[in-house]
Amino acid sequence: MPSVYIKTYGCQMNERDSEAVAAQLVAKGYALAPSETAADVVLLNTCSVRDAAEQNALGRMTTLVGMARKRRPEQVFGFLGCMAQSRGRELIDKLPDVDLVLGTQKFHRAAEYLGEILAGRREKIVDVAEEQGSEATIKEHLLNGKAKSAVTAFVSIMQGCNQRCTFCIVPDTRGEERSRTIPDIVAECRELVARGVREITLLGQIVTSYGKRDLPVKDGRSAFVQLLDAIHEIEELERIRFTSPHPKGYGDDLIEAYARLPKLVESAHIPVQSGSDRILKLMHRGYTRERFLGIIAKLRAVQPHIGITTDIIVGFPSETDEDFEQTLSLVREVKFQNGFLFKYSPRRDTPAAAMPDQVPPEIIESRHARLLAQINDIGLAHYESLVGTRQQILVEGASHRNATRLEGRTRTNKIVIFEGTDRHRGQLMDVRITRSGSFTLYGDPAIVNVE
Ligand code: SAH
Ligand code: F3S
Repeated sequence: MPSVYIKTYGCQMNERDSEAVAAQLVAKGYALAPSETAADVVLLNTCSVRDAAEQNALGRMTTLVGMARKRRPEQVFGFLGCMAQSRGRELIDKLPDVDLVLGTQKFHRAAEYLGEILAGRREKIVDVAEEQGSEATIKEHLLNGKAKSAVTAFVSIMQGCNQRCTFCIVPDTRGEERSRTIPDIVAECRELVARGVREITLLGQIVTSYGKRDLPVKDGRSAFVQLLDAIHEIEELERIRFTSPHPKGYGDDLIEAYARLPKLVESAHIPVQSGSDRILKLMHRGYTRERFLGIIAKLRAVQPHIGITTDIIVGFPSETDEDFEQTLSLVREVKFQNGFLFKYSPRRDTPAAAMPDQVPPEIIESRHARLLAQINDIGLAHYESLVGTRQQILVEGASHRNATRLEGRTRTNKIVIFEGTDRHRGQLMDVRITRSGSFTLYGDPAIVNVE
């Protein structure tokens, strides 16, 4: 049988989609190749959020098809995911050696299409159509593909986004919001837990809008909180996370869930994007700085140690020094434990790309550097402050940085590296933090009880 190599760009949703495609192909008898050059089939699962991400995948594919032409003309190439969706056939016009272009609602057809191409029945396939029910098609998991993945798993609960932030291409690449049912999601989670998974991260572009159109609010609880309640019932599941929420989804029912559900860990990635009300409005984010700060205060009132991280865009069209100062001051006020900074990148057919006063690249660069320094200072000081504390970690497996050690995560989503053996894998254990590095903690399980 042929071998396949899948390279993933972008977010966790993409990782999850790639995992599902890999599982689908393995079930059909494909082997997983160790590298792009060794594979019979190479699939790039792409990201369109910023131009740089698209250019990376295009550059990689150009190199790969160039090498194949000389050495292995029979190699099969495909683009999957967001860029496949937004560019479609244009990708084959640009790179004629590409055989398959598969959109975001068609991942489940990968095996069928590759089979036709490999058998020589069809030469090129482009399928970027919408497909009803595609949100429920991503179910297969490949837990043993990665050593760590048996302890933690991603579960996709919805697809698409209707928010239409003016800078964002996702509503175009991922389509309208579509949610899976609670029983369907719970069944997938139960199966994962039966296979040894202890922590589940629920995924979606805007998870807090889960089920809005399908499930009415019950006893004051939104569909998303009803889903959390249902998953929380699963015995032997230890931890629940989710990403990405939208600030407008933090109603009192969700805040209260943090107080009520012990498996819902004290961790939240809440994209704020900007600290300036004027920019937030132009972005169509649907909240003000004050409302955002109010959410953070409420979360901290129920979970004082909650680890909060965020996404911020610098250089949105018309952003002035004063707007940017508002972002700096918001970051100081909230003290995010980490933040992902994005330089604004104009995206095709988005309202922001047509807005006047695009910010010059050199100003974006300098604001980016200033904000990054500030986020790092605050984040690293927080990590340092944890030295000497005791933390509960879930042991995921061998450390990425040093395979002779183990790695786990705190409830607030910080990596802890420590000496241990594989029998600790999948266990919850307490460690004492002995030192902190760059957004990493080091722990010692042995001295936990020495107060
Ligand atoms: N809700 C999605 C957001 C997808 S985009 C999620 O689940 O991750 C991820 C982040 O990329 C956004 O939060 C935003 O900060 C950034 N981003 C999106 N569009 C962008 C653009 N045009 N330029 C720069 N950054 C962008
Ligand atoms: Fe994009 Fe805004 Fe949705 S950032 S994914 S349109 S919430």
